[in-house]
Amino acid sequence: MSNLQQWWRNAVIYQIYPRSFADASGDGYGDLPGAIERLPYLVKLGVDAIWLSPFYLSPMADGGYDVADYMQVDPLFGDTADAYRLIERSHALGVKVVVDLVPNHTSDEHEWFKAAVAAGPGSPERDMYMFSDGRGTDGELPPNNWSSVFGSTGWTRLVRPDGTGEQWYLHLFDSKQPDLNWDNERVRSAFDDVLRFWLDAGVDGFRVDVAHGLVKESGLPDQLEATELLGSNMGPMWDQDGVHEIYRRWHNVLDEYDGDRALTAEAWVPDLDRLALYVRPNEMQQAFNFEFLTAPWDAPTYRKVIAASLAANDSVGAPTTWVLSNHDVMRHASRLGRADTADRSGAGAEDAQPDSALGLRRARAATLMMLALPGSAYLYQGEELGLPEHTTLPHEFRQDPVWERSNHELAGRDGCRVPMPWVADAPAMGFSPTGEAWLPQPEAYCALAADQQVDVPDSTWSLYRDSLATRKSHALGDGSLTWIDRFGDDVVAFTNGDVTVLANVGGSPVTLPDGEILLSSMDVDGELPTDATVWLKRS
Ligand code: GLC
Repeated sequence: MSNLQQWWRNAVIYQIYPRSFADASGDGYGDLPGAIERLPYLVKLGVDAIWLSPFYLSPMADGGYDVADYMQVDPLFGDTADAYRLIERSHALGVKVVVDLVPNHTSDEHEWFKAAVAAGPGSPERDMYMFSDGRGTDGELPPNNWSSVFGSTGWTRLVRPDGTGEQWYLHLFDSKQPDLNWDNERVRSAFDDVLRFWLDAGVDGFRVDVAHGLVKESGLPDQLEATELLGSNMGPMWDQDGVHEIYRRWHNVLDEYDGDRALTAEAWVPDLDRLALYVRPNEMQQAFNFEFLTAPWDAPTYRKVIAASLAANDSVGAPTTWVLSNHDVMRHASRLGRADTADRSGAGAEDAQPDSALGLRRARAATLMMLALPGSAYLYQGEELGLPEHTTLPHEFRQDPVWERSNHELAGRDGCRVPMPWVADAPAMGFSPTGEAWLPQPEAYCALAADQQVDVPDSTWSLYRDSLATRKSHALGDGSLTWIDRFGDDVVAFTNGDVTVLANVGGSPVTLPDGEILLSSMDVDGELPTDATVWLKRS
């Protein structure tokens, strides 16, 4: 198969966060049967693939990113037959399926961890995790100063039945998410089996959680800078060269299968050249471009990030993977209406509230800019409806461990995980047949519900559908970008194939050049308003 036909090179991949997408059972939690029912909606929207956040057996201490069995579906979401059915139905509709792989840590309720605790220090079972003796006279201090990405310490001490302290285990996330020891061959081969299990089930790829974290610097030296929430990601636990050997191994496992199966790195690596190492020809296929996601609403920054991303990825022959929203960050329809448009952290009622009209206007413009770029793009469920973040979610509903672990200083990520509004005037806005919903939906979601937007001209949903169709018919995903600089510093302007794209990120309108308007994020009449993007057919 020629490289250009590899589906992931230009695919638009829609992220389903199963807990919040569609609930068929009526218990208030989204599930796989619910997702299956909504597949026609996604086909109509025009996506090429879906990525499902974890639906595996889990005590749900981190929304399923704490896996107790990688080969079982959690009853909350259905059963293994539902997963097979989802894969089969998607394929029948021409939609690829990507599932989440969570290799950095398991749940503390995974059999491997229970066995490690029971077997005691020095045992092979314990060596599957990052156990260590403490410092201090009696081992009462953690082995080093590493903190959890979710706040507070990154180490928890086991306690013997008699109450005395035992060894410590590392958890870069919640204490219910012990880190695996990737220097251990048993761990490596166990994950080969997990990959094969889902490849045999027919999945087209894996989104690899915390791909920059699996290998830790040997000797576990103290960290010099504080770890910001999924942020700075510099230090002895992140982006160690040793991770690449693992991805070369996985590449070979995927190669045993027919079709072109793909691995996508969730690697919060601040340097685009380091990120490109994850998508070298014998490693993964995609890596989320978080530099783009975290860029402020600023034309020079967008140009710089886009150019640097394309150059870094070109150097290894990989497409760039664009993204503006996901289940870990403030939805871009809210982020871009904030005073600090690069601030992706969640918000509560006591925080400054985003300007929702400005946010939506910019979000539509940002999306239209993103979807014109060569490469692949990820969409997060609900962004096609222009959903804002729920920024006034009452605290008693919060479930993200970030809220507790930060001593209620950080609102966390629940605000972007609120159940989807499908039908404006149905209970729970059509999310579940009973009106149950694990998080309450904000009033603003009513007017944005899918039934208010599907096939409605000028709705955000229609803008997404039209841009996906036009992107496909003009082969923008396979194209290449040429900058245009005659529109001034505040406009991100480029051509891709026969399409000219202008995103006005500045404060004043711009006169439009001649050319047929293919799509625009707002009404344009001779001029492109501020915070708007247009696609023109090159004359
Ligand atoms: C990734 C996931 C996030 C999760 C964390 C720990 O960043 O996207 O949701 O909390 O890893 O697994």
